Amino acid sequence: MLTQENLQKAESLFKKYPEKKAALLPILWIAQDQEGWVSEEMMKYVADLVGVPYAHVLGVVTFYTMFNDKKLGKYHIEVCTNVSCMLKGSGKIVDVVERACGAKVGQTSADGKFTVSEAECMGACGGAPMIAIGEEYHEYLTPEKTEKLLTSLK
Ligand code: FES
Repeated sequence: MLTQENLQKAESLFKKYPEKKAALLPILWIAQDQEGWVSEEMMKYVADLVGVPYAHVLGVVTFYTMFNDKKLGKYHIEVCTNVSCMLKGSGKIVDVVERACGAKVGQTSADGKFTVSEAECMGACGGAPMIAIGEEYHEYLTPEKTEKLLTSLK
């Protein structure tokens, strides 16, 4: 369920679109910002709010990698392994991230601090190799810089 404040944000979004369902993506973004992820309960709530079937919302949440249908650790580390980053050594960055975070790709560390994901191109190829920690990009990485960065989060 959205907070009263976020529900007001949703209501004002509805005014910007010809149909409520057109506001689905930004409303899911608000929901994720509120909870840190989009639970099944939240997907059902949003489906009712915008007037689409639950299956439609589930399809959207599971299609776009920017939405998380599982609870994440405190820090979500996304390592880009697409072409530019791969050619600039993202394989070594993945190794460092997994070791430093204590979690393999697709896992959350036992202490709940880090969730590690592999990501497709995040549009920062010029700064390859790169990772995102939440919404913050870190570019021109080396294994050493990555280790230092992750250590600073512990
Ligand atoms: S390939 Fe990594 S940001 Fe584009």
